[in-house]
Parts: sequence; structure tokens; C-alpha cells
Amino acid sequence: MSEVLEAARTVTAGRPVIALEGVDLAYRSKRGAVTALSGIELAAAPGEFLAVVGPSGCGKSTLLKLVSGLLMPSAGAVRVKGAGVTGPSPEVGIVFQSPLLMPWRSVLENILLPIEIRGMDKAAYLPTAKALIELVGLSGFADRHPWELSGGMQQRVGLCRALVHDPELLLMDEPFGALDAMTREQMNGELQRIWMEQRKTVLLITHSISEAVYLADRVLVMSPRPGRIIGDIAVDLPRPRTLDMTETVGFAQVANRVRRALSASGGID
Ligand SMILES: Nc1ncnc2c1ncn2[C@@H]1O[C@H](COP(=O)(O)OP(=O)(O)O)[C@@H](O)[C@H]1O
Ligand SMILES: [Mg+2]
Repeated sequence: MSEVLEAARTVTAGRPVIALEGVDLAYRSKRGAVTALSGIELAAAPGEFLAVVGPSGCGKSTLLKLVSGLLMPSAGAVRVKGAGVTGPSPEVGIVFQSPLLMPWRSVLENILLPIEIRGMDKAAYLPTAKALIELVGLSGFADRHPWELSGGMQQRVGLCRALVHDPELLLMDEPFGALDAMTREQMNGELQRIWMEQRKTVLLITHSISEAVYLADRVLVMSPRPGRIIGDIAVDLPRPRTLDMTETVGFAQVANRVRRALSASGGID
């Protein structure tokens, strides 16, 4: 049995929050079918932080869309908390690269948007929304509008919006990719702190090896399209992780393992 399969089955012995079994995904286009993912086996334990790295176009966003119920697999099974995924689920919160905030709404109103869309009681979620604003360091900004905020602050609002209905699963697709390096480091610290406080199961897609190693319990490495999982690298570094730790030999060793798996697969863009 491959290392990847073995790791997936070990975790499956518990009760995985996310489980993908033999998943293929083919897009149908005018020029024929495009196989984006092939034979994906993945399991995330409750509270586990998984990062996914892989070359551009290898199917990372596709993987996330399958877990979030925005796409259905061509073959195999996608399960969240043991149940087959049939569509968007309240168990899931999603953060995209661009926060896509509504410019005419305040920070607080943007965060409460998913509650409104689901027809839930907005007043009941007000305390949660306010607590999240505190948690991400945006105290005093509840009534501001997106155009009054920096890119990093807008992304924090996007994170609050993903968390407001208290999903068990947080999916993030290159959430900090558009931010400058210093803001990104700061956001990584914040995300770790929030994760340690809330212990969501997280699936983070990233282009940055150091971001993956800094944040994750395990880094999954994908091959070029059709994407397969070709590496499953445990990150045995203590938490909370600090920026100083990114300079240590232990950190470099894990990052090198990820880098080697990637270059064996054809590299990262
Ligand atoms: N709606 C679609 N129709 C056809 N092909 C698609 C569609 N979405 C993505 N693809 C193709 O599937 C592959 C994987 O895409 P994606 O998951 O976005 O990759 P990544 O996020 O790793 O860059 C790419 O080759 C992309 O061109
Ligand atoms: Mg993508």
C-alpha cells in the first residue's frame, strides 16, 4: 500500500471530518473531457489542519469545490462527517483568494450575509459576529465599509464571514495569495491563533511551501493534472509556531521534503 493510502486509512480509523475515496473529476468542455483529478484518497481527522500544495492547474480548487459541494465527483465518494456530499453544506465555511465583500455593506453586515442568505435569525448571530470581529483584530471597524479597509483587513472580514455560522470545516483557497509578504505573515499568525482557539478542521490551499509548513499538521502534495496526491508529509513542529521557527533546521527539513515531493512531480509555479 502506498504511503498516502496508508496515512489516509490510519486517519479513517477515527471518524474523519472529510473523506475522499477513489475520487475522479472530469470537466466536460466543447473540446472533450478534461480530467482534473484522478484517484484522490484523502482523510482529515477532526480538528486537523491540512495544507495542499501543487502546480498551477493540478486541480486544487477543484478538490476544494468537491469538498464544499459545489461540484460532484465523476467517480468515487466525497463525505463530510460520514455523509455523502450532495450540495453546499452548513458544516462548511469557505474563504477565497479575493474576499468579494459587498461595498455598500458595513463590515458587520458583510459578516452576517451568510446568515441572511440562509434565512437564519440575524439578531441571534450578532454576538458571534462581534466576537469574531474582536478575534481577528478588527475591533472598532464593525461599521466601516470595505473601501475603508486594507487588503489584509478585508481578508479578515472574509474569514469572519466564513466562520459566523460556526461551521465545523473551514476551506481556504489561496486566501492570502494577493497580500504583501508582511501582511501575509501576520495573517498566518492570526489564522494559527484562531485555529488553536476554535479547532476547526481546515483544508488550506496555498502556493507557499513555508505557509503550508508553518500552519499545517500535514502537507499534501499534488501532481500536475490530472491531480493525484503524491505526498503526505507530517509537520511535527510544536505549537504555537513562531516566525523565528521558520529559520530553524527542523522547519527547513520539512519544507525540503515538501519541495522534493513537488519537484519530483514537475514543480510548483
Ligand atoms: N469549469 C471548468 N471546465 C473545464 N475545465 C476546467 C474547469 N475548471 C477547471 N478546469 C480545468 O481543470 C484543471 C484544474 O483546475 P483547478 O482546480 O482550478 O486547478 P488549480 O486550482 O490547481 O490551479 C485545469 O486544467 C483547469 O483548466
Ligand atoms: Mg486554484
